[in-house]
Amino acid sequence: MRIAIIQFSPSGNTLKVSEMLKNELEQKGQDVQFIDITREKQLFIDREWSSFLAEKVVRHDVLLIGSPVYAHHLQYHMKDLLQALPKPDQTWGKYAVPYVTYGGISSGIALKEAAGLLRKSGRKVPAGMKISTSHRMTRAFMEKEFNRDLVPELSLQSVRELVNRIMQMEGRESKSNHKSLDYNGLVTTLKANIIFKEKLWHEKRYPKVSIDRSLCIACGKCSKVCPVLHLCFRDKLVTESSDSSCIHCLNCVTECPQKAVKLMGDLEKGRSFMKKMIEKNGNREQPATAVYPLVH
Ligand SMILES: Cc1cc2nc3c(=O)[nH]c(=O)nc-3n(C[C@H](O)[C@H](O)[C@H](O)COP(=O)(O)O)c2cc1C
Repeated sequence: MRIAIIQFSPSGNTLKVSEMLKNELEQKGQDVQFIDITREKQLFIDREWSSFLAEKVVRHDVLLIGSPVYAHHLQYHMKDLLQALPKPDQTWGKYAVPYVTYGGISSGIALKEAAGLLRKSGRKVPAGMKISTSHRMTRAFMEKEFNRDLVPELSLQSVRELVNRIMQMEGRESKSNHKSLDYNGLVTTLKANIIFKEKLWHEKRYPKVSIDRSLCIACGKCSKVCPVLHLCFRDKLVTESSDSSCIHCLNCVTECPQKAVKLMGDLEKGRSFMKKMIEKNGNREQPATAVYPLVH
């Protein structure tokens, strides 16, 4: 079978899962095209989603879509990509399988949203996967990155299960199991759509990043790790691009050797909010990591 993996991984967790998927599929003799959209200028600056897809993606039977969960949702750039997908045809297979990584608080409605958009694009969604990983945002302002010590072997088990399910699809018609991706129910859907409005959180709630010019030594490290090219390095100066908004992965904050990239706003309030979220919801979602539909 031919598989195309398209993945977005601002801070590396989804990438690890995507690479595991690629390796496992290749070990089973599958033909895999791997497309990482992280830091793609054509997407984040030029916003040419359709032409990017048309140019890059080769013929496949199954499309795998990997993304992190942000504010209970499928990260919004991945939504942009799914909205730009062409209908299935000779090149584009009719099956798609979404997978997400999340920071152990809530996987929210990300898989449900991915399934909805993939169905809208004319695809069947026979399976999906969520992987509980570390919470990358917490590493920038909490004492310790939440779930930092989770062992990757837990993910590998699910990755292998998903690969087996994909292999079973070979040569036969598969049905869409998209409803199984609505596992978190109505209350989470309402919470995600009413409280955790992703773009609003980026605008108003997440701590803002700012560069202290008196400390900056213009090494450019922050711009190299910016997954959406919001920070750019020109004429030995780091500047914020207005073409691409910050998505608050906070890579730049942890990467800066001078601590010149700072978080603004009421950090104590942020810490206390996150602490409460972790105490109330941290590692409560059951199963934490799973392949859907669940097999009982
Ligand atoms: C802006 C932002 C929002 C996040 N929102 C959630 C969330 O709602 N629930 C959750 O469990 N984890 C959340 N996380 C944690 C990420 O989903 C998790 O760390 C993910 O594995 C990151 O993937 P990446 O390393 O591929 O970017 C969030 C992280 C960031 C940076």
